[in-house]
Amino acid sequence: MSKKRVSIFASGSGSNAQKFFEFFEKDKDIEIVSVFTNNKSAKVIERASRFDIPSFVYNRTYWETGESIIELLKKQNVDYIVLAGFMLLIPEQLVEAYPDRIFNIHPALLPKFGGQGMYGMNVHKAVKAAQETESGITIHYVNENYDEGKIIAQVKCSILSTDSAEEIAKKVLKVEHENYPKVIAEVVRKSI
Ligand code: GRF
Repeated sequence: MSKKRVSIFASGSGSNAQKFFEFFEKDKDIEIVSVFTNNKSAKVIERASRFDIPSFVYNRTYWETGESIIELLKKQNVDYIVLAGFMLLIPEQLVEAYPDRIFNIHPALLPKFGGQGMYGMNVHKAVKAAQETESGITIHYVNENYDEGKIIAQVKCSILSTDSAEEIAKKVLKVEHENYPKVIAEVVRKSI
């Protein structure tokens, strides 16, 4: 049987994307076939090229309807899309083209600390300001709204009152790296 084909969408460093490249490098069921980005200087491009994975850059205008992107995804026979630090809203047409086949990770325990403007350090600063004793990650399906798709998994980590927002970010990123590829592998394998 042919492998399930996954594309990663990322806008920045791509440390999560890197974990996917490593995790699935020799997988018998699942293959990372491409990276899509809106940022031609994203570090993820270089990370992907080290694994011989091609990257495709589309500027913001293309993401408004997603038409050309959907066309290329279909040409690449992509089955699933993983958002890993992708900063633009996924257009409705693309969500419709991949129902329950687009995944995202949010660096907090949704529904808290989600929604528009809640990305990067904003999230961890808000968690710190709210004096939370735990944070963590939420892996969820993507729908047309930010951070509102059905939740697949949440993993927590504890926060000390002395932790800075930067320290919280570090703890959460570690939980992302340890869990994101593993959880997606489980979901995709279930469909095989
Ligand atoms: C991660 O914290 C992820 O949760 C968020 O964006 C960040 C991406 O980091 N959506 P990286 O590019 O994978 O290093």
